[in-house]
Amino acid sequence: MSKVTFSVIKADVGGLAGHHAVVPEELKVAEASLAAAQKSGLLLDHYVTAVGDDIQLIMTHRKGPESKEIHDLAWRTFKEVTDKVSKPMKLYGAGQDLLSDAFSGNLRGMGPGYAEGEFDERPSEPVLAMMADKTEPGAWNWPLYKIFADPMSTPGLVIDSKMRKGFVFRVMDMQADKFVDLKAPEESYEILALLGTTGRYAVQSIWRRADNELAAVSSTSRLSFMAGRYVGKDDPCMFIRVQAGFPATGEALDPFAFPHLVAGWTRGSHIGPLMPVGLKDAKCTRFDGPPRVVALGFQITDGKLIGPADMFDDIAYDRARQEANRMADFMRQHGPFMPHRLGPEEMEYTQLNDILKSLESRMKPSAEMLVVPA
Ligand code: F6R
Ligand code: MG
Ligand code: MG
Repeated sequence: MSKVTFSVIKADVGGLAGHHAVVPEELKVAEASLAAAQKSGLLLDHYVTAVGDDIQLIMTHRKGPESKEIHDLAWRTFKEVTDKVSKPMKLYGAGQDLLSDAFSGNLRGMGPGYAEGEFDERPSEPVLAMMADKTEPGAWNWPLYKIFADPMSTPGLVIDSKMRKGFVFRVMDMQADKFVDLKAPEESYEILALLGTTGRYAVQSIWRRADNELAAVSSTSRLSFMAGRYVGKDDPCMFIRVQAGFPATGEALDPFAFPHLVAGWTRGSHIGPLMPVGLKDAKCTRFDGPPRVVALGFQITDGKLIGPADMFDDIAYDRARQEANRMADFMRQHGPFMPHRLGPEEMEYTQLNDILKSLESRMKPSAEMLVVPA
């Protein structure tokens, strides 16, 4: 049997009442488009959902990652949703993530984000698709390190012989458009040195060293770097293969019980807690957030998707949500001050830059400090 490819491709092509959520009509059009592709034999299976204002196309097929046919399908689907629903309804930001009219068959640099990987389906193949709104790919850095490199979080790293050799972290420098492969555990400090800079470095994929099996893939696009101006945050997606030599489902979910601080809250310019939620709460409200993450569990069975299980729709995450709300109160009190607001490097493409420019001519040397203001 040839390998199965798991693709999670997402885009924001229009929101209801702002950058808040999608309307059911958008999902209906996307669903019909993928159902037709499945009928034609291109897809093995699909599942369409949304997290906040982002439509998520979850697909299985045999075309491999970055396949022209699959990317073309995703692009056409987002375009159709835009033309048939978002634009006629004048939804907010209709078509916003479709950066160019000239689509050439690959989504790289085109706006939508994607996490794709191919592998031999195991006798039982559980995977978790994770999708977040109002944040960026670097938001996965902290949990992915915990899951795949921290034995205090993932006991499988100690107990499971397939995991004990560790994992390779393929880390992307999103600014330079380069990547480096680093080995955990022996290069943990190098890994942390990069992953700590969440706005620039992100994990693109993780591989099990015992046999070079693919363990996880994340979307690593950054719209702001692509477009050279602020065009929205790259709300990220990823997937993790779990169990039997990979992290247990619970080991992959556990780090999210701590709502760590991530960038991307309002105007893509603020830091806030990443709140784990079920699909029913995957909508952004307070201060356009707080940033939210959903985890959907599937079995891939002969290429078909069984599920999903809505993992964070569970009382075990109630405390994390409460904590996230408390952290949101705490962060909000800072108003426009860092570290709630991002630092100047990250604000480069926002309108704040215009203010700085407009003040340039009024900036005087410090030697003139004793002069009384005019
Ligand atoms: C969008 C986002 C929002 C917007 C904000 C302002 O992903 O995070 O917080 O940045 O609502 O949007 P505009 O400038 O379109 O009014
Ligand atoms: Mg949006
Ligand atoms: Mg979004």
